[in-house]
Amino acid sequence: MLPPHPKRDFATRLIAWQKAHGRHTLPWQGGEDPYRIWLSEIMLQQTQVETVLPYYTRFLSRFPDIEALAGATEEEVMAHWSGLGYYSRARNLHKAARRVVSEHDARFPEQFDAILALPGIGRSTAAAIAVFAFGHRRAILDGNVKRVLARVYGIDGWPGNKDVENRLWQLAESLLPVADIRAYTQGLMDLGATRCTRNKPGCVDCPFSDDCLANIQGRQKDLPGARPKKALPEKTTAMLILKHGDAVLLEKRPAPGIWGGLWSLPEYPLDIDPARAVAGMGYGVGAVEKCAPSRHAFTHFRLNIQPWLVNVDRPTFAAEPGCIWLALDDIDSAALPTPVRRILSSLRVL
Ligand code: ADE
Repeated sequence: MLPPHPKRDFATRLIAWQKAHGRHTLPWQGGEDPYRIWLSEIMLQQTQVETVLPYYTRFLSRFPDIEALAGATEEEVMAHWSGLGYYSRARNLHKAARRVVSEHDARFPEQFDAILALPGIGRSTAAAIAVFAFGHRRAILDGNVKRVLARVYGIDGWPGNKDVENRLWQLAESLLPVADIRAYTQGLMDLGATRCTRNKPGCVDCPFSDDCLANIQGRQKDLPGARPKKALPEKTTAMLILKHGDAVLLEKRPAPGIWGGLWSLPEYPLDIDPARAVAGMGYGVGAVEKCAPSRHAFTHFRLNIQPWLVNVDRPTFAAEPGCIWLALDDIDSAALPTPVRRILSSLRVL
C-alpha cells in the first residue's frame, strides 16, 4: 500500500516548482532532436551535469548527427569519450547508432520498446528519451528519482532490492501528470540534483517540505535505505611474536600483496604448535603465551589473528635477509600494518 498523501497533487506542485526554480538552459533542453537528447541521457547516466557539459559540446561538434556517429570508427568515438569514464556507454552508443542507421533508416525510433531495445538503454533512460524527444507519458526512475520518492513517500529498504525497486516503479507510474510531462520529468531530475541531494538535502527550499515523510520524521539520512552490508569472508592466521629482551622479529611482506612492503609478524597456519615452529627456526624457546585474538576488516575479507608470544634466546647468527629485530619502543615510527602495530602496542604495557 502506498501512503495516501501528498500523491494527489505531487505532479502539479513539482511542475510549478520546475517552471519557477528548475533548470532551463542546459544544452540538451529546448530542442526535440532525439539524437541530442539520447546522447545527453547516456552521458548523464553515471556522470554529473557539470562534468558532462564540455564533453557533450565536443562530441556533438565532431558527431553532429546519428549518421556521423555511425560512420565513425570506434577509436574516434572512444577518443571523444576519453575522460568521461564508464566506456561501455560509448561502445553501446556507437553500436546503437549503427543499428539505428541499418534498422531504422537512420531515424531514431519513437516507439518505447524500440528505444529500449537499443544497446545501452534501460527502462529509465528509454523513458527519459521518450518524454523529452517525443512528449510521451512515461515514468523515469534513476538514482535521483529513487531518492526523491523514497524520501517523500517514506519507502524503506535499499532501492537495489527488486521488491523495493518495484514499489518505486509503481509509485513513479502512479504519479505521472496528464499534461506537461517534460516539465514534470525535468522537475524530478532537478529536485533530486539540486534540493533532495544525498548528503545535504535543502528541505527548506523544497516544494514537498510540508508533507515529505523523511523531512517530517527527520529521516533524510536513512532514506533511501543503504545497501545491506555483505558478510565478509573470514580468514584466520596465527602470528608469532618472537621476543628477545625488548625486541621482536619482523618480516618484510612481499609486494604486490596485502601489506606489501610493510614489516609484519611471521605467520603460520592456526594449527601449528608455536613452540615447535620457533624451535624449527633455530631459536632456543623460553616461555610461550597465547595472546588475545584480534579481528581486522579489509574491504573484501575479515582477518582473525591469533598471536602467540614466544620468548627466545637471540641466535648468534644474524636475522635472515628480509627480517629485522625491532625494539618495542620503535614501533610507532616503523612501517607496520595497523593490526600488527596494535598487537605490539599491547605488549609494551605488559
Ligand atoms: N540527469 C539525467 N538526465 C538529465 C537531464 N535531462 N537533465 C539534467 N540532469 C539529468
